[in-house]
Amino acid sequence: MAGASPVRKIQRAPWLAWVVGGLVVVLAACTSAPSTELPPSVRAVRLLEEGHCGACHQIPGVPGATGDIGPDLCEVAARYARGEITVTDIMADIIQPNRRVHEGYLDDIMPNDYGERFSTEELRLMAEYLARLPCVGATPTATPSLGGG
Ligand code: HEC
Repeated sequence: MAGASPVRKIQRAPWLAWVVGGLVVVLAACTSAPSTELPPSVRAVRLLEEGHCGACHQIPGVPGATGDIGPDLCEVAARYARGEITVTDIMADIIQPNRRVHEGYLDDIMPNDYGERFSTEELRLMAEYLARLPCVGATPTATPSLGGG
């Protein structure tokens, strides 16, 4: 048996096949992902996990994000879909949660240091993910009295 057989190398890292396979699938579903980086949606989910947003928010696609201390972030996606807010607005809501407190929820609960913990690019990734949450088509978007802002 030759020590440097390529077969042995592959056997040493069977997880690599999963990672590469998964990436190919996700990249195929994503039209403009850079080839060297993880797709934006995957990075966004990781950032949202890192920020523990799911402790307080329901966020589809983010494992364990079933919190109900803050609003269901599907509502953010619904407002975005209706053209009421932009990605920049969502970024601002993450950086300065108290700038426009969501009706029916307490202020001063959401951490206000995300602007320091995440780069602008990371905040944008998260905001874009929230704007496009796949719940808009699935749930009725009739949320009275949200427009006032
Ligand atoms: C400790 C609980 C908590 C954590 C952690 C938390 N939030 Fe919040 N969040 C809230 C509460 C409560 C509100 C509603 C009050 C307000 O608007 O300030 C809110 C509001 C928001 C809003 C505005 C929603 C709207 O409908 O206006 C967004 C967007 C948001 N959070 C995103 C995030 C993101 C992204 C993270 C993680 C990086 C996060 N939150 C982490 C509690 C939390």
